[in-house]
Amino acid sequence: MITVQGNYFKIDTKKSTYLFKVNPLGILEHIYYGKAIPNEKDYSFLEEGEGCGYGVMMKNDRYLAYLDHLSQECSFKGRGDTRELLLQIDCSGDLECEFLYEGHEILHDFEIPGLPNANHKEETLAIYLKDKAKKLTLCLYYSTYPGTDVITRSSSLKNDSGKKIRINRLLSSQIDFDEDEFILKTFGGTWAKESVLQKRTLQHGVTKIGSNNGHSSCIHSPFVVLEKPDCSLTSGGCYGFNLIYSGNHAGYFERNNLHKVRFLNGINDDSFSWDLSDGESFFAPEATLCYSSEGERELTHQYHRFVREHIVRGEWQYKDHPVLINDWEALTFNFTEEKLVALARRGKELGCELFVLDDGWFGKRNSDNTSLGDWHANLAKLPNGIGSLADKIHEMGLLFGLWFEPEMVSRDSDLYRAHPEFALTHKDYEPLESRNQLVLDLANPVVVDYLIENVGNAIAEAKCDYVKWDCNRVISDYLSPSTLNQGETLHRYALGLYRFLGAIMKRFPHVLFESCAAGGERVDLGMLCYMPSFWASDDTEPFEREKIQESLLMCYPQSCIGAHVSASPNHQTLRESQIEDRFNVACIGAFGYELDPNELSDVDTKSMCEQIAWYKQNRHLLAFGDYYKISSIVEDCRGQFVIVSPDQKEAIYFVGNKTFELYSPQAFLKPVHLDPDAVYEVEERQQNFDFYQVHGRVKNDKRTLTGPDWQEKLKDVECLKSEKQVASALGASLMNAGMRLDYEWGSGRLPKRLMLDYSTRIYKIKKK
Ligand code: GLA
Repeated sequence: MITVQGNYFKIDTKKSTYLFKVNPLGILEHIYYGKAIPNEKDYSFLEEGEGCGYGVMMKNDRYLAYLDHLSQECSFKGRGDTRELLLQIDCSGDLECEFLYEGHEILHDFEIPGLPNANHKEETLAIYLKDKAKKLTLCLYYSTYPGTDVITRSSSLKNDSGKKIRINRLLSSQIDFDEDEFILKTFGGTWAKESVLQKRTLQHGVTKIGSNNGHSSCIHSPFVVLEKPDCSLTSGGCYGFNLIYSGNHAGYFERNNLHKVRFLNGINDDSFSWDLSDGESFFAPEATLCYSSEGERELTHQYHRFVREHIVRGEWQYKDHPVLINDWEALTFNFTEEKLVALARRGKELGCELFVLDDGWFGKRNSDNTSLGDWHANLAKLPNGIGSLADKIHEMGLLFGLWFEPEMVSRDSDLYRAHPEFALTHKDYEPLESRNQLVLDLANPVVVDYLIENVGNAIAEAKCDYVKWDCNRVISDYLSPSTLNQGETLHRYALGLYRFLGAIMKRFPHVLFESCAAGGERVDLGMLCYMPSFWASDDTEPFEREKIQESLLMCYPQSCIGAHVSASPNHQTLRESQIEDRFNVACIGAFGYELDPNELSDVDTKSMCEQIAWYKQNRHLLAFGDYYKISSIVEDCRGQFVIVSPDQKEAIYFVGNKTFELYSPQAFLKPVHLDPDAVYEVEERQQNFDFYQVHGRVKNDKRTLTGPDWQEKLKDVECLKSEKQVASALGASLMNAGMRLDYEWGSGRLPKRLMLDYSTRIYKIKKK
């Protein structure tokens, strides 16, 4: 809810308040962002008021302000604020400006043109600030959303000066905090090791977290968390910030000697500038802000609601994803139609619902050297064409999906031979290749128009039910002939990409799209406005994946996270793992298999079959239930979380161990958010062990083996069943005391649970 009261602007969500005012100079003073406060007649008890201190001041006969000290809603060069700034412009060499309050409006159905927007806004407050001398208008937007504490901010600049000006920076959001003790949590990484949690105490000076390779990147994620030092999972204050944008982003955290912290985020200006002609406006992407006074768990809860309700859209918003089987890790480029059909058929027999043909199906693509851009069947491998394969798959009763990398071109391709000017290259230098490919110039509308038609027709011809939209390299050589100013290219690329995606989504409203960028190189809220899920990482080894997913889950709901069971040993880490652990980790996401089921052992085949059956019964809860972290696989001795249905009727509880340890601490199942007064039944999902995989561990000490199924059978059977713990208790007992999980092998007690390195378990909790 947005309340305008005299000079005050108050933005309330259920549990948070954001407050600022126009001061007598016309400067927007930030007053407060934190736990909800009631409406007051005035907020002078909380305001900074007139300033005094070292530095230059702005004053009139009513007021005096040191902008270098003052908490503000926006900042610009020239009026004494020497901190990092929201706006930096260049008007023919003049860098200074002065934006003062001019007016405001409450807007309904506000949308930023050309960029993805959070939808179903409640209302938007637009504040107009004018530089009268330069005839420029800066507008700040604040939007609220039903059902979540997340708010969004954005900004725009309109030029009425009669001449061209250059924007060197226009960020989306600014918050000046009147406190400086913060822990900053960020998520950085690299290919196959995305989303590694980094924690630091905010120090004096500027900390910048940003990407510079054309994508939101896995190097530094745009999602960041700023916590008070006493913040924990369940108590204390924390802020979560993100950006609805897929290009270069930056978050600045400036801590000064006056016990203030300024936070800014938006498009990274390192490789950005924008020439704005008279009469034109430039819009910054939407930034998301959320405050939780109840610790990180509540922050996550609010973000999940926001992403589900206001970011993901279309037919697949709440629809169960089909269980997919993808051929990539099984066959890579080495397939024939027969092999694909055999793989799909086996997948179908075991319960899969969607067959995805990954890279290698088009042009002359038998390696990653060639053919990106030629989106027609590779007839050497698919002599009957892609439509015929799609028919065969459909006849089996499976959905059919294809891999595309629409933003790329191989130099060895018909597209590049016909249109070398479609690729981003620099006129003075040899273009840089990555994975033997160049990036198409999506800053150029002609290229985007071509792609909308060409890729769209390929999707139609292949009768796709699903598309994996990949993007396997970062952007370099971004001197587009379509713009005179190289500083514009990467943002124009993002705008071109969004136009491309918008057109494709409009043409194929029923197709399920999944975003991928060499794994998790473009995981952001911008892409999620078009596609309901992203491929989180090319690392599907369960322990590594558990860590990646735990970080992602801080902001993104389970349904958004693409997760597959792949073969063992894992392709990236070479670590061996049990198929059941692979499943337990993958099943919480947009789920599938990425292996050849014809090559599985009998035990693993049985497991796969049982897994799919169990998954189908629980998939809506797994994907769309409310996720609550209990403990961290990164920071605690084991990772645990619970996913609870909104009506509290059922839940799934996950436990994941780290490396096997003798005498490891007792594990308890201790869910949250159940109905305290209802009786629940807990039932462990029983797992299969492949005797030959665990035999080495247990054969030497049969005396300590107990448990119903595996003590006497070691020599005789291949398939050992795990324990299957069941219990019944009131929600309050489970939540307050917890359920004791069976002792683990090596715990010094008679063990019932064989927990190997990185072992996992899943429990279903159901109201009686
Ligand atoms: C990327 C993706 C993989 C796979 C390959 C195909 O690396 O992340 O899942 O699709 O491309 O080349």
